Amino acid sequence: MSSLHGVVTAMLILETASQEACRIGSCRESVSVGIVGAGLVGQEVLRQLRVLDTERAGGWSAVAVLRSQRMWLQNIQEASDDFMSMPGEPTNFTKFSDFMSALPGLRVIMDCTPSEEPADLYEKWLAAGINVVTANKKAGSGSLKRYKAITEAARLGQSQFLYEATVGAGLPVLTTLQDMVRSGDDVHVVEGRRVSLLPSLRACTDRAEQIQPRVAE
Ligand SMILES: *[C@@H]1O[C@H](CO)[C@@H](O)[C@H](O)[C@H]1NC(C)=O
Repeated sequence: MSSLHGVVTAMLILETASQEACRIGSCRESVSVGIVGAGLVGQEVLRQLRVLDTERAGGWSAVAVLRSQRMWLQNIQEASDDFMSMPGEPTNFTKFSDFMSALPGLRVIMDCTPSEEPADLYEKWLAAGINVVTANKKAGSGSLKRYKAITEAARLGQSQFLYEATVGAGLPVLTTLQDMVRSGDDVHVVEGRRVSLLPSLRACTDRAEQIQPRVAE
């Protein structure tokens, strides 16, 4: 994943979350954020959260960060810019979930991983009233049974399940599509092409006879 992709995805996650918070009338309320995954996207989300926090009254605070080996359950932003140098504790999804569930007010878990494990927990988090914002494509492209359980849990928990995915090197496709549908347009067809084919084609344009088998691939 390129760093540009990381930044764009992080911006989409935060925009999606903050627009939703304002829509439900709580853009002035403080929001506790738990971040799962602190790679390129997760770290950029943290960086942008710090900016949001100082610009807004109330504000958004990262209260927990979970990585594959270690997690930090505390006010990450107040504690230190460099919380990862602090010891933290061994990763335990149950403990992380309990910690987030016990917090008062508006809570959001942002999944910045490409993993199955958090996707399997969305249902539980949403049922507990925790909003879930994800850049993880697993839940949206995995089993329909899990997806239906997730949307049902959001309904019961009165929480929001928000997602965004970048396609074509950073285009916010899903939001654009949802906006079109919300504003009354009927979308009949979405066409796409594999971007990764282009460099592959370019690499062999001097050998035209090789293009046909590449396209077939
Ligand atoms: C994970 O946390 C839960 C809840 O705090 C605890 O009951 C469980 O023993 C922990 N698991 C491990 C492997 O430490």
